Amino acid sequence: MEKLQAALENARKTRAGKLRDAPVPRRSRQQGEDCDALDQRWQDLQTFEVADRALIKRRVVTRQASASATPFDILRTKVLLQMRQNGWKRLAITSPMPKSGKTTTACNLALGLGRQRDLRSMLLDLDLRDPAVHQFFQTRPPHTIGDVLRGDVDFSEQALRVGDNVAFSMAQSAEDDPTRLLLSNETADVLDRIEATYQPDVMIFDLPSVLVNDETRAFLKNVDCALIITRANTTRYNQLDVCEREVAEHTNVLGTVLNAYRYADNNTATD
Ligand SMILES: Nc1ncnc2c1ncn2[C@@H]1O[C@H](COP(=O)(O)OP(=O)(O)OP(=O)(O)O)[C@@H](O)[C@H]1O
Ligand SMILES: [Mg+2]
Repeated sequence: MEKLQAALENARKTRAGKLRDAPVPRRSRQQGEDCDALDQRWQDLQTFEVADRALIKRRVVTRQASASATPFDILRTKVLLQMRQNGWKRLAITSPMPKSGKTTTACNLALGLGRQRDLRSMLLDLDLRDPAVHQFFQTRPPHTIGDVLRGDVDFSEQALRVGDNVAFSMAQSAEDDPTRLLLSNETADVLDRIEATYQPDVMIFDLPSVLVNDETRAFLKNVDCALIITRANTTRYNQLDVCEREVAEHTNVLGTVLNAYRYADNNTATD
């Protein structure tokens, strides 16, 4: 256990160092050429048909601006501003216990970010024991995200694009040994390569719940910050407390979302 803690701490320090040492971008002709190449890499990602009605049934409502999208848009903007302020790119979505609304929130954030034409975003389904993003989108990616993380398939062949600027890396089915994959250095390297190749402004990771197994704990070293989703009338205070402390040991806690709270004024969460 101590060895695991030490390994996680080392990985976190390395990632923090990388962020600090990242070069400040400068405009140049070379950059113009790089931009064209980057645009092309995004254009080369396969697209897929989004079944809007099915998404709305699952409370994913942010493809267009609307009253129901507004709470998620506010969340998107708050998250984005805070991440920018800190120079963060990678956001984990987790919760104390299952069925809190993690995937719903992650999909709404990704599609809401997609309406920002000047941003590029990604959603990666790392709830590898019980992946759901592909079910939300009623699609089957050509390969599973586990193949990308193992280095067997390139992200360019696996990810699917919605619009010009949002990429989804989804699973086809559950993985046998999620913790091994989420803890591995190879996974960290693959994610670094994806980030370097596609230069997304935001990478969202849909993760499992913290208090049910060690998978989220194993992965958090790879992100800059985490959003904790709680569910009204379901999540207990002590569960949130333990979850928040666990997450804070490994990354920055960006905030907590109270999902499905039904007794508030118009400006409250989601229903
Ligand atoms: N605000 C809400 N109001 C009502 N139902 C909701 C709300 N948010 C999510 N749900 C529903 O709750 C269920 C669980 O949501 P979701 O799959 O997003 O949670 P999750 O935390 O990702 O679950 P899991 O732990 O299984 O990954 C879904 O049926 C979803 O439609
Ligand atoms: Mg989920």
